[in-house]
Formats: sequence, structure tokens, C-alpha cells
Amino acid sequence: MEKLKIAGGYPLKGSIRVSGAKNSAVALIPATILADSPVTIEGLPDISDVQMLKALMEEIGGEVSFDDGEMTVNPSKMISMPLPNGRVKKLRASYYLMGAMLGKFKKAVIGLPGGCHLGPRPIDQHIKGFEALGAQVTNEQGAIYLRADELRGARIYLDVVSVGATINIMLAAVLAKGRTVIENAAKEPEIIDVATLLTNMGAKIKGAGTDIIRIDGVESLHGCKHTIIPDRIEAGTFMILAAAVGEGILIDNVIPQHLESLTAKMREMGINIEAGDDQIFVSPGEKYKSVDIKTLVYPGFPTDLQQPFTSLLTKASGSSMVTDTIYGARFKHIDELRRMNAKIKVEGRAGIIDGPVQLHGAKVKASDLRAGAALVIAGLMAEGITEVTGLEHIDRGYSHLVEKLSGLGATIWREEMTQEEVEQLKS
Ligand code: EPU
Repeated sequence: MEKLKIAGGYPLKGSIRVSGAKNSAVALIPATILADSPVTIEGLPDISDVQMLKALMEEIGGEVSFDDGEMTVNPSKMISMPLPNGRVKKLRASYYLMGAMLGKFKKAVIGLPGGCHLGPRPIDQHIKGFEALGAQVTNEQGAIYLRADELRGARIYLDVVSVGATINIMLAAVLAKGRTVIENAAKEPEIIDVATLLTNMGAKIKGAGTDIIRIDGVESLHGCKHTIIPDRIEAGTFMILAAAVGEGILIDNVIPQHLESLTAKMREMGINIEAGDDQIFVSPGEKYKSVDIKTLVYPGFPTDLQQPFTSLLTKASGSSMVTDTIYGARFKHIDELRRMNAKIKVEGRAGIIDGPVQLHGAKVKASDLRAGAALVIAGLMAEGITEVTGLEHIDRGYSHLVEKLSGLGATIWREEMTQEEVEQLKS
């Protein structure tokens, strides 16, 4: 088991390249199940969630090659193998196997997904959608059983705007008979990316990226080649990091329109941001003003950037408030930031940050992926050495983070933990 060590307090500069979007990747790979011939996805990030899904595709009979970010999945020999346990439980996004396997085989058994612990993460809207399409859904000993004689298009109104439910219903509906309409759909760029892949495979989808998506079922889907969109959350993490410790950092391979809510807030703080076609240059301002943020569904401020942004706000003068309306319990990073001298308190769904303070290096633990990003940024801001454990979370979503940050001049490295440290972490 490894930990991350960071010698903080030094300015960084240069350019950093964003990888393909994790939250697209985890849906695009299961979507390949729906095709009858090989699908190639280019630009996938080198993260453990992608490796896990590759193994899952192989487990159900897929032939998969993966090299230099390009994955080809030949689904022609896949079977509807029940997956009640094992790898499926290790990643949240394994719920996309439900929609894809139900769509293709009209049956699926998938263990309830794991992933980041951000408080309760129900999947009732996914299930409501599958049932509306004609599936019988039961929960037996921690696994979801889905069966249908046939799937028929339906009108489905989502009671909660959900990225996962929107994509999962699309996956189940593309091969259903007739028209499906998803109302109150989520509008995240990753949904458009999945709809683009499915359309290239022969699906008929209109309205992805709006709150009404119409899908006309087709008989079969074929292989194609697709390039994934850049990861807006990784790009946002680098923008925040650039404002926190940068002396001018160019972020490359980004779609600036995907980050408008973050850009607006950063400008409000006094940070200089220049956006090009597929690059963003961030340079520090003189002094940072405190700001309030409230996470919302896209195009609002993303919950996934709330935690990294909290680290930056320790540098702002005055009191800032961060309210998470999506995951009210996504505040596990705050105790760790406090160990580093941050002045933050949590009240209900909000964190209140008083600044500016100089962070100090400390031993901290990443409890989830974006908490990990927040702690890495804090470690780079802090004076002294910071040790971050819980790297398995960071590795789920940030591709080659140490190498990328070293390229900006950061002193950051991975180190094997001693047996004693591993025991301490478990206790
Ligand atoms: N919700 C329900 N019922 C459902 C589904 C969701 O009540 O059936 C609630 C959730 O509890 C939450 C809200 O609806 O309060 C939004 O959840 P959503 O379904 O949109 O989240 P998700 O699809 O499970 C994806 C990302 C998350 C990201 C959220 C919100 C993937 C694999 N994950 O999760 O990403 O935080 O959307 O944008 O796409 C991350 O990357 O660190 C991460 C956690």
C-alpha cells in the first residue's frame, strides 16, 4: 500500500494536459455491450475504474484490447453472466451494467455498487426507469435482479435530476420497442458523450444535453469508433490548483464551456483566467476575495469540484460558504483540512471557511476521490511535508497525477507504507 508525500509551499508553473473524462468512460465502456460488433473508444484515462470495467467486460465474455488510452471491445461473444459479487461492488458506476445488460440480454444480475462514500446514494430513479420499460426488478441479498420478456418504450419523469439514471435509462431504451421519453433528464456533458457514442452505434436519440431526451428503439447496434470528451472535473481541479499554487499554468485539452460556473467563481475571487478554444490559462491575482458557492446540477457549480475548491478558499480573505445541495454529507475532507490548520466549520449541508490562513503539512487521509484532490491541493499549498493516504480513491479518477504535477515542478512522490502505518490506517 502506498501513500503520497508532498513538499509544499513552492510555486508551480508550466502546462498540464487533461485526460479523458472518467464519468464518461465509466458509461461508454458498458455501452459497448449493446453493440453486435467491435467498438473502439479513444482517449480513455489510465485510471483504476477503467481497468476495473475492462476486467468486467472480459468477465462477461468480451474480447478487450487496451493500449495507450484506446480500448476496443468486441461484444459478440458476451453473455448475460450474473455478477452478484466481486468487482461490480468496487465501483459505483457498475450500475451502468444494469442498463446495458438489460437492454442487450433482457436480464441482468448486478451486485449493488460501491464507490465513493458521499452519504446515501440511492438508485431508485434508475429502477423506476427500468420498470417503466417493462422490467421486473428485485433486490435479493444485495444484488439487483432485472428481467423482462421485452422492453417497451415509455415516458419516464425523473423525480430527481440524476446523471446515472438518465444514462442508465438511455442504455436500456436504445434497443427497446418504440419511443422512450426521459423528462427532467440530467444535462451533463457526459450524457451527450454517451448519446454520441450510442448514435454512432446506430441508436436514435434526440435531446441529449436538454432536460427532455427522446429515444426511438432500433433492432440492433453496430460497432464504431468514438473519441471521449476531456474530463471537466480533472480540468477544474487543475484550474483550482493553478490558482492556489500556480505562477501561470496552462491547462490543455479542455472544453472551456464545460467549466463556466467554476470560471465565473474564480474570476469573482480575483483570479485571472483566459480561455482559448481547448486551453485555459490561469494566473494568480493579487489577493483573493471570499465567495459563496452552492453545488447544483449542470450547468451549476459541480459537486465534484466543491472539495478541491474548499482548499483554495482557505487562501481567500473573509468568510466563504460552500453548500452542497447534491451530496449534503460530502464534507469528510474538512476534518483533514483542519489538521492542516484550515479554519472551517460544518453546519448542516454547508462548510464555512475563514481565511486567509497558511496551511501546514500534516498526515491526512483521503476518504473519497475528490477529498483526495482537495488534500493534494492543500498539500501543495502547505508549508512542510504532507502525507496523504487513501490513494486508492485518487487512483480511481486521476490519471498519472504524480507525473502530471511533477511536470509543473511539484515535489510529490509515492512511497510504500510501513506495516505499522497500514495497521494504523485500518484501525
Ligand atoms: N439520486 C436519487 N436517486 C437516484 C439517483 C440519484 O435520489 O436514483 C440523488 C443522489 O443521491 C444525489 C443526486 O440525486 O443527491 C444526484 O445524483 P446522480 O445520480 O446525478 O449522481 P451519480 O450519477 O451517481 C454522478 C457522478 C458523480 C457526481 C454526480 C453528480 C458518475 C459515475 N458519477 O454520480 O461523480 O458527483 O454524478 O454530478 O458519473 C466523482 O466523480 O467524484 C463522482 C462522485
